[in-house]
Amino acid sequence: MKKGKKLYEGKAKIIFASPDKYLVIQHFKDDATAYNNQKRASIEGKGILNNRISEHIFSSLKDVGIENHLIKRLNMREQLINLVDIIPIEFVVRNIVTGSLTKRLGIEDGTILNKPLIEFCYKNDNLGDPLVAREHIYAFGWASLLELDFITKQCLRINDFLQGLFKGIGIKLVDFKLEFGKRKSDGKIILADEISPDTCRLWDANTDKKLDKDRFRKDLGNIMEAYQEVAKRLGILHEQSNNIRPIKFPKPTEVKIKKK
Ligand code: TMP
Repeated sequence: MKKGKKLYEGKAKIIFASPDKYLVIQHFKDDATAYNNQKRASIEGKGILNNRISEHIFSSLKDVGIENHLIKRLNMREQLINLVDIIPIEFVVRNIVTGSLTKRLGIEDGTILNKPLIEFCYKNDNLGDPLVAREHIYAFGWASLLELDFITKQCLRINDFLQGLFKGIGIKLVDFKLEFGKRKSDGKIILADEISPDTCRLWDANTDKKLDKDRFRKDLGNIMEAYQEVAKRLGILHEQSNNIRPIKFPKPTEVKIKKK
């Protein structure tokens, strides 16, 4: 597939044009950022793993009828996706209290929520992605009331599905972030962006060991090992049987973290 010009560069991904005006190429970088860009590094191989993990999750979601932007993975770092107008809201779904929620409200870390909690953050780096109410979203036209109801239901369906998927491989889905967009070709709201250990909190079900980007945020080390563990348990790594080629990753000892 011929790659066109760069349309957008974010913290962890780049979007390139494709020969089809309604499709674009999403490229996964190795860059990692945390705390609103204050902490930055490059983690060799992270983009490759996130591309594979996100592809696996998005195609599994498509199989259960959750429409999303994925068309197909193109290579180690890239996937062909539907072009969308992103709704400028991060939809954070929480099953267990941790992270910014603990800091903000002082609720004990690890508290299990009776029902999933959905939070809305306005995507604006200059403002530090502030938490907003539903009312802000339709007052400022970021999404209509109907659209917001649809997205909220999708968030809960996705949470149900992913909780089951991860439970089956011995992982607790603690929380995660979703983004939605309006597909350029028909205006339909679909799931977009990525779902990977960069955008989820994933704890080992037996030990609560963190298998996600918190290893970077909190300087816990072994970041790539944790991401590889998630990929392995999802059956993406070392599976020759169903046409999924094993990925060559640097050995944990070879993983270089370059401070930016
Ligand atoms: P938080 O506890 O820092 O608010 O994060 C909640 C979840 O959302 C966690 O799984 C990480 C994810 N997240 C992102 O993927 N990107 C973001 O910009 C933020 C703030 C959170």
